[in-house]
Amino acid sequence: MNRANSSFVIGRRARLAAIAALTALSFVGAGVAHAARPDPAAGEELAKTACASCHGLDGVSPEAAYPNLKGQKVKYLVQQLEAFQSGLRTSPEHAAPVAGELSKGDIKNLAAYYSGLSDEASIADASPPDFAAGEEKAKMICAACHGLDGISLVAAYPNLRGQKVDYLIRQLEAFRSGERESLQLMNPVASQLTDDDIKNLAAFFSSLEPVSQE
Ligand code: HEC
Ligand code: HEC
Repeated sequence: MNRANSSFVIGRRARLAAIAALTALSFVGAGVAHAARPDPAAGEELAKTACASCHGLDGVSPEAAYPNLKGQKVKYLVQQLEAFQSGLRTSPEHAAPVAGELSKGDIKNLAAYYSGLSDEASIADASPPDFAAGEEKAKMICAACHGLDGISLVAAYPNLRGQKVDYLIRQLEAFRSGERESLQLMNPVASQLTDDDIKNLAAFFSSLEPVSQE
């Protein structure tokens, strides 16, 4: 509760700072009225210092419990970073300063950078417990929103393709228990899943190689 409240306050401060930064930028930019276009190179610079230790500079995280960001949807990344700032989604690792200090421009740049990374390294984890059962369930329940190939059909829905096994398991369990309150749709979906379903689904989606998204 307290954490959510305080990160909400921090989020507001960051937003004020972002407004100030954007205002400053518009003086520098040749009087263009629009917000700056996303700049993946600037995103990469920031990712190096602020994100790479946990998510990898290539978007493939070194820790099993930390999500990969490589090839994730831009809109989804932006939405989740904003949710960390406002406290709608809580994560101790994203308590200030990690999310709190990001401006709106930073968030756009980071999302553009990570989303645009193309795949080379396979990020599939250990071999799946029951890949076929996972694929079967995915077809029945998940494909409508996340795509059977793990590339979601809607910009605000995350790709699951190539995501870390342990991360997927942790998130599905958190949606099921309500510990993670989804911004959209996932709590009722996860409530239908057994432990085995979760393990198999995570294995299936994580075994698919990630692809780059614009
Ligand atoms: C100290 C480690 C750490 C750092 C630094 C960090 N993250 Fe994270 N990040 C995590 C963890 C752990 C999660 C999963 C949180 C959860 O379990 O809900 C996460 C989740 C995310 C998510 C949600 C992913 C999804 O699939 O829903 C995004 C987006 C994200 N981080 C972006 C960033 C960006 C951009 C930066 C740099 C500004 C950053 N993170 C810095 C550890 C970190
Ligand atoms: C009706 C659409 C819908 C269906 C069906 C659905 N999802 Fe989701 N899923 C979403 C949305 C939307 C989100 C983003 C939730 C948020 O914004 O908080 C999400 C988020 C997730 C996440 C978190 C990803 C991340 O990067 O943090 C996982 C994991 C996930 N879904 C797995 C599944 C699995 C496995 C199934 C099938 C059992 C499934 N979903 C079925 C819409 C759906």
